[in-house]
Amino acid sequence: MKYHKSVLLGSLFLIMISGMDCEKKESVEKIVPVELGRIVTKAIAVLHPTEDSNVQGTVTFTKVADGIEIIADVRGLSPGKHGFHIHEYGDCSALDATSAGGHFNPEDMPHGAPTDKKRHVGDLGNLMADSEGKAHYQRVDRQISFSGIHSIIGLAVIIHQGEDDLTSQPTGNAGPRVACGVIGIDETTK
Ligand code: CU
Ligand code: ZN
Repeated sequence: MKYHKSVLLGSLFLIMISGMDCEKKESVEKIVPVELGRIVTKAIAVLHPTEDSNVQGTVTFTKVADGIEIIADVRGLSPGKHGFHIHEYGDCSALDATSAGGHFNPEDMPHGAPTDKKRHVGDLGNLMADSEGKAHYQRVDRQISFSGIHSIIGLAVIIHQGEDDLTSQPTGNAGPRVACGVIGIDETTK
């Protein structure tokens, strides 16, 4: 019995060694970007409420001459300002949307205002809700993109319960998440 066990352990060890070897080989291979052959010109996120929230709406991202125009129409908010960001994972599955991770920050910058040069790429500032809880947001952003490391495709839009103070690190202290939506491709051109 003892002999058999050691043979079994020995072969398990060999399997582990060869598995490690495989991983090493893969890590030195170059990652080649996939050529889709089409250029994304418009993207959309449909926002769904988190647990105990009634916030919903849509956000569109449209390529324009000097950047990407963002138009958000959201309802079900409390009157006032609400943090509005792109978060790093396109995963809204958690009831509180924490599955979407932190602010999209591909260049390791501090949190900031949308007009700051040094900011998270995902820092879009605040939505301003009226007395009926409706917010309309429209501006052109020069940091977000549909390609390269600033690409927002497949990431998540998050709306927060509170105001983003645009300075507190690393989140702007905007409180819990009240809506989440994954950004998908809406239109492409050749
Ligand atoms: Cu956020
Ligand atoms: Zn941020």
